[in-house]
Amino acid sequence: MVYTSPLASVPVTNAFNTTRSQAIFNAAQSLMPGGVSSPVRAFRSVGGQPIVFDRVKGPYAWDVDGNRFIDYVGSWGPAICGHAHPEVTAALQETLEKGTSFGAPCELENQLAEMVIEAVPSVEMVRFVNSGTEACMAVLRLMRAFTGRDKVIKFEGCYHGHADMFLVKAGSGVATLGLPDSPGVPRSTTSNTLTAPYNDLEAVKDLFAENQDAISGVILEPVVGNAGFITPEPGFLEGLRELTKENGALLVFDEVMTGFRISYGGAQARFGVTPDLTTMGKVIGGGLPVGAYGGRAEIMAMVAPAGPMYQAGTLSGNPLAMTAGIKTLELLKQEGTYERLEASTQRLILGIIEAAQGAGIPITGNSISAMFGFYLCEGPVRNFEEAKSTDTEIFGKLHRAMLERGVYLAPSAFEAGFTSLAHSEDDIDVTLQAFKESFASIK
Ligand SMILES: Cc1ncc(COP(=O)(O)O)c(C=O)c1O
Repeated sequence: MVYTSPLASVPVTNAFNTTRSQAIFNAAQSLMPGGVSSPVRAFRSVGGQPIVFDRVKGPYAWDVDGNRFIDYVGSWGPAICGHAHPEVTAALQETLEKGTSFGAPCELENQLAEMVIEAVPSVEMVRFVNSGTEACMAVLRLMRAFTGRDKVIKFEGCYHGHADMFLVKAGSGVATLGLPDSPGVPRSTTSNTLTAPYNDLEAVKDLFAENQDAISGVILEPVVGNAGFITPEPGFLEGLRELTKENGALLVFDEVMTGFRISYGGAQARFGVTPDLTTMGKVIGGGLPVGAYGGRAEIMAMVAPAGPMYQAGTLSGNPLAMTAGIKTLELLKQEGTYERLEASTQRLILGIIEAAQGAGIPITGNSISAMFGFYLCEGPVRNFEEAKSTDTEIFGKLHRAMLERGVYLAPSAFEAGFTSLAHSEDDIDVTLQAFKESFASIK
């Protein structure tokens, strides 16, 4: 069957409208479940129809109707240098000439591995995979293989990809029972997944006490970006480091989102707490599909073929993905990068808070480096339960009002926002003006 674009019969206009996006999304309904390749893209939690992108460049995305948006999703994290950075695309073109996938060792893997090892304090050896999900799946197997224990502690509201063991309902009572979050996930698979509220060391202590010598480790987002934006309270990461050590368990930072974003060495470098293992993705792939897990050499020595823990991948470490990652890290390593990201993102979030307050809308928000988020409720928000107080109805209206003003925010009240080196001070000014008008229009 040949795909026929529905756009053939839709005229292009100059005013803001989404006619062509709608035509494509409608056609997608019968082709892909929900019309998308990943659920949040469908805009279900903000209402309205999704915008179908045509191209991206720098801080901008253009949709198929010709509308331009200042983009704060950045492909959900990878685009920290801005979309399609000319140096990244030039390097990719050069590599492309040599082929897209080798299925054999290539020197580019050494190069990216060396850069990751040099930057991320916990990583002495690394294995490349193709997504964050894959990295987290593998790291859990490694935690179990190394400790000989089956249970794992995760936190409510932390996302570690869609592997069965991590899909545990983030709700109080059922949470600690390990009830699966999705049909198709056997209870037996999640029964070893224990959950605790984020920022709650006592809960973690209790879980260790109740499951002595059975817990392989604790995995968490060191700064949460999948429940909105939640920062670790002082002492939380340090406390987890001590508790895991005391109990012979491993500490794992899932830095798929925070890696090379919170600082060049990730959240662990920024907060000075070194886990045993780390998962990465997004930025280290520079916009191509990459994930990675790494850690102490003694633990990584368990991974096949060095050791007995099996894990493999047809496209893992492919030259294109390695190239995009290497170029992106080279750009990030330049002097002053993170200071710039920190300053512009802070100006953005403070302006958003001021705009909401000016319209009499309750708000609490925060940023670290190139990551930010806000909740439309009184703060503080320290865990997923508190995050749920955000007004999702107002957020939905805000999201639509911002789109109409040329700003693309994540289509969910429970996702962090991302800035990039390509966002100029002018872009931030335009964004803040749009927030002012949008908050005023929806209050
Ligand atoms: C912290 C974290 N871990 C894991 C994942 C899964 O990564 P992927 O979507 O590449 O499978 C994500 C994705 O957003 C993430 O934010």
